[in-house]
Amino acid sequence: MIQLMATYSLSNSVTTICCLIFLPFLGTIYLAPQAEAARAFFVFGDSLVDNGNNNYLITSARADSYPYGIDSPTHRPSGRFSNGLNIADIISQKIGSVEPPLPYLSPDLNGRRLLIGANFASAGVGILNDTGIQFLNILRMPIQLAYFQEYQRRVQALIGRDQAKRLIEQSLVLITVGGNDFVNNYYLGPSSARSRQLPLPRYVKYVISEYEKLLMNLYKLGPRRILVTGTGAMGCVPGELATRATNGGCSAEVQRAGALYNPQLDQMLKGLNKKLGKDVFISANNGQMHLDFINNPRAFGFTNSKVACCGQGPYNGVGLCTFLSNLCPNRALYAFWDAFHPSEKANRIIVQKMNSGSIRYMSPMNLSTIMALDSTT
Ligand SMILES: *[C@@H]1O[C@H](CO)[C@@H](O)[C@H](O)[C@H]1NC(C)=O
Ligand SMILES: *[C@@H]1O[C@H](CO)[C@@H](O)[C@H](O)[C@H]1NC(C)=O
Repeated sequence: MIQLMATYSLSNSVTTICCLIFLPFLGTIYLAPQAEAARAFFVFGDSLVDNGNNNYLITSARADSYPYGIDSPTHRPSGRFSNGLNIADIISQKIGSVEPPLPYLSPDLNGRRLLIGANFASAGVGILNDTGIQFLNILRMPIQLAYFQEYQRRVQALIGRDQAKRLIEQSLVLITVGGNDFVNNYYLGPSSARSRQLPLPRYVKYVISEYEKLLMNLYKLGPRRILVTGTGAMGCVPGELATRATNGGCSAEVQRAGALYNPQLDQMLKGLNKKLGKDVFISANNGQMHLDFINNPRAFGFTNSKVACCGQGPYNGVGLCTFLSNLCPNRALYAFWDAFHPSEKANRIIVQKMNSGSIRYMSPMNLSTIMALDSTT
């Protein structure tokens, strides 16, 4: 506990340093009216898209110390689980945001900066409430949605009800969650409570049915374009290779989970769009995007798609990435930054496919098509 508190105050001082540096930049946001021109962007989910909420929480799921953020402009950790940017950051660049939406818990998310959007994601969470209980205090999905409602009340106070409603309706949402329901729940340890309770196919159906409720609750809060990512190649991440590799390759069992889950997610999203009579939910096939560079790393400029850049043990896949870990000198050559998270370079490849990939990657359409469609209506 004492150690957690120490980390917590350290992260606060890091935040202070970061914001002093950014003060001049903040000044330009307040002056520039075009700050409102780009559509608002909202982010929900887990560590793949958390950009610092967990810095403000008492949790072991955090990325606020060296060497996280080593390749960011400040070279300082921000709470992102990456050497630099994550996919939410890169999407915000693609859609022309002046800056990535701030973590919702950041004290700097105030005034007109709220109009850029907000990031509610929290490392360690899953679709199910019991996923990630080992990380203590994290923002589970029902809390992320409750904060989104609170955010809307704050924006209404700022620009009025009608304008706030329009801002939400015209926004873009990214939701990335589900991986932890497998790697940090069903497959946590040799025999988890969930795996003793349900065989995999029934567990997958249960997770999908809970996700469907969650997505409908999100839709009811107003957004009309929601990017939903499937799970990555969970059985191929260094953390799983270290503990469950099958004949030196990906864990067949964990890959089986993704092979069941991802197509059912895709079908569920199609079903929701049909019910709503419009293409609200966009299904992103991140599992395939990951497999592309895992199976053929050299085609993407990687020398390594199995060993994490930062970590220790087999595949650098055991334990956390800390200042004591092995650290690769050139992060751009590694598909994985730590045991579970892609490098910034891999994240750029993923967003490239989300933006302009074919129907194999993005269904029913890619982000560039969404942006073109929505700009004319
Ligand atoms: C998860 O928690 C929320 C709020 O605490 C609750 O409304 C919901 O029913 C829970 N879900 C399950 C499956 O228990
Ligand atoms: C995706 O985006 C590209 C443009 O970047 C476009 O040519 C293509 O048709 C789109 N594909 C789909 C399936 O929407």
